[in-house]
Amino acid sequence: MRIKNIRLINFRNYEKLSVDFDSNLNIFLGDNAQGKTNLLESIFYFAGGRSNRTSQDRELIRWNQPFFNISADFDTHKGSFNVKAAYTVEGKKKIMVNSLNQKRFPEDIKAVIFSPEDLTLVKGPPSGRRDFLDREIGQISAVYSNILRDYSKILRQRNKVLKLSIDRKKTEEDLSLWDEQLIHYGSQVLKKRLDIIQQLSILSRLVYRRLTNQKENMRLQYVTGMKVDQNWELEDLKNVFREQLNMVKKEELRQRVTLLGPHRDDLKIFIDHQPAKNFASQGQQRTCVLALKLSIVEIIKGKWGEYPVLLLDDVFSELDQSRRTYLVHEIKKGIQTFITGTREAEIFKNVTVPAKNFLIQQGSVKVL
Ligand SMILES: Nc1ncnc2c1ncn2[C@@H]1O[C@H](COP(=O)(O)OP(=O)(O)OP(=O)(O)O)[C@@H](O)[C@H]1O
Ligand SMILES: [Mg+2]
Repeated sequence: MRIKNIRLINFRNYEKLSVDFDSNLNIFLGDNAQGKTNLLESIFYFAGGRSNRTSQDRELIRWNQPFFNISADFDTHKGSFNVKAAYTVEGKKKIMVNSLNQKRFPEDIKAVIFSPEDLTLVKGPPSGRRDFLDREIGQISAVYSNILRDYSKILRQRNKVLKLSIDRKKTEEDLSLWDEQLIHYGSQVLKKRLDIIQQLSILSRLVYRRLTNQKENMRLQYVTGMKVDQNWELEDLKNVFREQLNMVKKEELRQRVTLLGPHRDDLKIFIDHQPAKNFASQGQQRTCVLALKLSIVEIIKGKWGEYPVLLLDDVFSELDQSRRTYLVHEIKKGIQTFITGTREAEIFKNVTVPAKNFLIQQGSVKVL
């Protein structure tokens, strides 16, 4: 897919902006705090209606303004369309596709972003890795987000029962009302995660090797409190979930919280057999995240028949030559890519790829 242009009103530090994009490579140069990341964020927002930086749409409204408006034209293999969205400080959101009101952003808009904040994926808490999996599976499987939402709802209810427990026997009765639903949705979440990890493991290993000039290996392992096998069918997962949930019930009553399920799981990353969480250097963390994101780009292509747009925020400045060369090779495959940086020389040392260059200064964008 391609995003042809974008128009912003009162989005972050942009009062009014209208830009036409190149269908392959767009480079945004500018000093710190000029609006480079904000522009990538606005593009990303069209893919699902969520910012990569905040869950509060209100933060996207230019300070002291009553609303933001965004609009963009897209080309996909299913056709072309225009998408407009508006959000007011009162919390009203409106989405229009080809001038018709819609509840959601079109599913066909896909974006993968790499930003400096993503580096916490490797060394940060498990919740960051679960969020990464959940967001990306959500882009790949249309039903996943609904299943996850239902799971979280049941989990909250079940935790409430545990937390408010006074009488043990009564609590056990109340819990049994929720258990089957927890198992029902939880196993589906687990199944989808295991499926994607299988693909992600193979691809990220390959990409990581290429990024490091075949010098290093990366490996993924999904860690769950349940003893499961990667290839198990949904029914097997359900049975094991049920069995093991019974086994931890006593402890759950003691700790007053649900101890088993995908909300407690983690994705372990290894580099040359060592856990990246403990040992990865900054460059290795960056490479890991890049390998994961580029793999997601491929998985989306495999599933949807089209590449998502790729947003690379401040990636190039810290990469060595072999990693840069590989990234450029990726871009040349026909992925519409948006890159930001503070200095041109830092972005493409010794590599030439035709691109549209922009200069961003205090919320205005100029073609160079
Ligand atoms: N809602 C908002 N309204 C107005 N300005 C905002 C809003 N949100 C963020 N800003 C400002 O926008 C400016 C540009 O932010 P942005 O993150 O895009 O910078 P950048 O060009 O990516 O800089 P860097 O190179 O440091 O990453 C910042 O000074 C920030 O304070
Ligand atoms: Mg930035």
